[in-house]
Amino acid sequence: MHRRFSIAARLKCAAGIIAACAMALASTHAAALDGQQVFETTCVYCHGPNGNGTKMLAKRLGEDKSLLVQRTDLQPAYIKAVVRNGIGSMPWYRYSELPDAQLEAVIDYLTHR
Ligand code: HEC
Repeated sequence: MHRRFSIAARLKCAAGIIAACAMALASTHAAALDGQQVFETTCVYCHGPNGNGTKMLAKRLGEDKSLLVQRTDLQPAYIKAVVRNGIGSMPWYRYSELPDAQLEAVIDYLTHR
């Protein structure tokens, strides 16, 4: 009789729990459609105060335009194009990674609509 679970079975189990958590989180965000929440989950890693995006934008556009949340000049169509196509070292986002509804929410947040 096997009394111990194999390591593979344990890993599968752990992966299952992580996937379930990720799905729960994703659905919370989709349901709430809070642009700030989407930004903080998806963009802040690079566009927070010390993020790579912030540093790159400081170099290209200047300190005063480096933090996306402080910008007042961002146009919805521009943000959409950047997020769907990528820019410089910023990766682009597929619809499956960032559904339109979430992109719209984050655009509302960044353009203060
Ligand atoms: C992996 C890092 C990373 C993530 C995650 C990321 N970005 Fe970026 N983003 C960058 C970098 C780097 C640049 C600057 C590229 C350049 O200028 O060469 C940038 C530039 C931008 C710009 C262009 C600003 C301008 O004035 O030209 C916008 C808009 C933008 N990001 C929006 C977003 C949004 C919205 C998200 C989340 C959905 C996001 N980014 C997630 C790295 C990232």
